[in-house]
Amino acid sequence: MTTTTTQNPLTDTDLLDEERKERYGDSPSSRFTDPEKPKEAFRDYDAPARDSVREFYNLNHHYQTMEFVLQKKAEYLPPRNRRMGIWEAMEYLNTLVDDSDPDTDLSQIQHLLQTSEAIRADGHPDWFVLAGLVHDLGKILCLWGEPQWAVVGDTFPVGCAYSDKIVYKEYFDQNPDSNVEEYQTPNGIYEEGCGLDNVHISWGHDEYIYQVVKDYLPEPALYMLRYHSCYPIHKEGAYSHLMNDHDREMFKWVDAFNPYDLYSKSAQPPDVKALRPYYEELIAKYFPEKIDW
Ligand SMILES: [Fe+2]
Ligand SMILES: [Fe+2]
Repeated sequence: MTTTTTQNPLTDTDLLDEERKERYGDSPSSRFTDPEKPKEAFRDYDAPARDSVREFYNLNHHYQTMEFVLQKKAEYLPPRNRRMGIWEAMEYLNTLVDDSDPDTDLSQIQHLLQTSEAIRADGHPDWFVLAGLVHDLGKILCLWGEPQWAVVGDTFPVGCAYSDKIVYKEYFDQNPDSNVEEYQTPNGIYEEGCGLDNVHISWGHDEYIYQVVKDYLPEPALYMLRYHSCYPIHKEGAYSHLMNDHDREMFKWVDAFNPYDLYSKSAQPPDVKALRPYYEELIAKYFPEKIDW
């Protein structure tokens, strides 16, 4: 089993998920957690795996500057790279199989289905289920040559001071924005309470999938997609001074989504073929046949 550098551009993604589990503790009891698997097993990192997480955040914090974020937004937004249906995008993303994860050999499509199935089993509205299904489709950025540090990992606001709640904050020392005075006050270039829609977040699969689906899903689903990797905000409560009341209301949904993403992974692999008809119907309820990516 490889741990760090393979040809696979998504090789560290699940490793980052595992690191988050370690940071935020184990989930409350869930029928989707594998009862056969002792909780300590999730933390069975060898040192190289941990080093690869550090190295990931070293690169991420070094290169995610305001300039970089604006450049990627100009490059990818509005989405115009390719036209695909949702299921088609799932199959496209699935051409990447993570071979480094110590806990599972689930494919990307299986992670999406496990997340959505866990949401469905708890009786949530169908758009919530659909949010689970599509939440990581922005990782197709990896297939278009983007390095992992520009696609996955925790996200954070740029253009204002880095919160102490951001993991591996010390690596921001190398970020050129650290030397830009107007970016290093609490509000930075923003106004207090301006609302997160006015705040640039480090570039990655969250913002991208939000932009791809924003015309089709209800707003709570869009918040889940857009901020699901923004752990400094949704888990740590940082940057509340930039949020408005509407953000705070909507973040209840982001919080509701998070356990399904983080903890629904170790159960039986979902039966993709058997589930497909249900999901094709659900997709068709909200999306046209093809959308712009
Ligand atoms: Fe994600
Ligand atoms: Fe995910």
